[in-house]
Amino acid sequence: MSRPKSFRLEGKVALITGAASGIGEETLRLFAENGAFVVAVDIQDELGQRVVASIGSDKVTYHHCDVRDEKHVEETVNFTLQKYNGSLDILFSNAGILGPWTSILDLDLEVFDNTMAINVRGVAATIKHAARAMVAKKTRGSIICTTSVAACLGGYGPHPYTTSKHALVGLVRSACKELGTHGIRINSVSPFGVATPLACGPFNWEPSVVEAETCARANLKGIVLKARHIAEAALFLASDESAYISGHNLVVDGGVSVTTPIIAINN
Ligand SMILES: NC(=O)c1ccc[n+]([C@@H]2O[C@H](COP(=O)([O-])OP(=O)(O)OC[C@H]3O[C@@H](n4cnc5c(N)ncnc54)[C@H](O)[C@@H]3O)[C@@H](O)[C@H]2O)c1
Repeated sequence: MSRPKSFRLEGKVALITGAASGIGEETLRLFAENGAFVVAVDIQDELGQRVVASIGSDKVTYHHCDVRDEKHVEETVNFTLQKYNGSLDILFSNAGILGPWTSILDLDLEVFDNTMAINVRGVAATIKHAARAMVAKKTRGSIICTTSVAACLGGYGPHPYTTSKHALVGLVRSACKELGTHGIRINSVSPFGVATPLACGPFNWEPSVVEAETCARANLKGIVLKARHIAEAALFLASDESAYISGHNLVVDGGVSVTTPIIAINN
């Protein structure tokens, strides 16, 4: 069934990292449907260009950016500003990796450093340069970071990943304090398991297997979590509908992180 068109981001300029795949791709499509100009960035250039071409709108552009490299991030923000008359209204800092599941007893510190370089340092770089642009233009912008249910609880991701996502929630709260003085909002969205290449990767699972695993562990029954549900949460945080929400971690997990099934009642 086709959805009615809405224009909740009409005229806004958005930058999305990790936009070639999964949650970033779905959010790119949803932001574009809602009237935003979007610069979609990733390191998977061919895939990113294909995704942008499939949207078929001159309001959407692909740009290469490895978030590990601050120079790339700065250049990407400048590219966006040059293209859109100095404007940047929304940053969706979403690029991330999961990394291998290993015991803490075998922790590979190079893997740890790489995870932190992408999931935390990379996000920090995007916040820094996007916020600079927003402050300079006195834009009441919205910044959204993708964290995870692994930002709330242990056991939902590898050790470096869980550490990185907890750190991101701290970064969002810390930046919230300062950015609020400029009228800039910053929030995070924390998904439960979504069948993207990131989630399928470690065990080479088909998307249907990831969905079945998520459903089996889910608290909320009768619905399969899709990337679209996370994109809808990002859209809410990007739009004026969340105008007074800042420093919030919007957990999209059907309640799994606030419930512990000790006694089975009604099932
Ligand atoms: N899929 C899930 O179950 C799940 C759950 C919770 C949180 N998340 C988070 O959602 C975000 C998006 O992941 P996804 O599930 O859509 O996975 P995905 O692998 O489909 O997408 C991640 C994208 O980030 C890009 N990326 C990786 N390293 C990068 C770098 N250095 N610079 C720029 N881009 C880079 C990848 O190329 C990829 O396109 C991640 O931050 C992830 O931690 C995912």
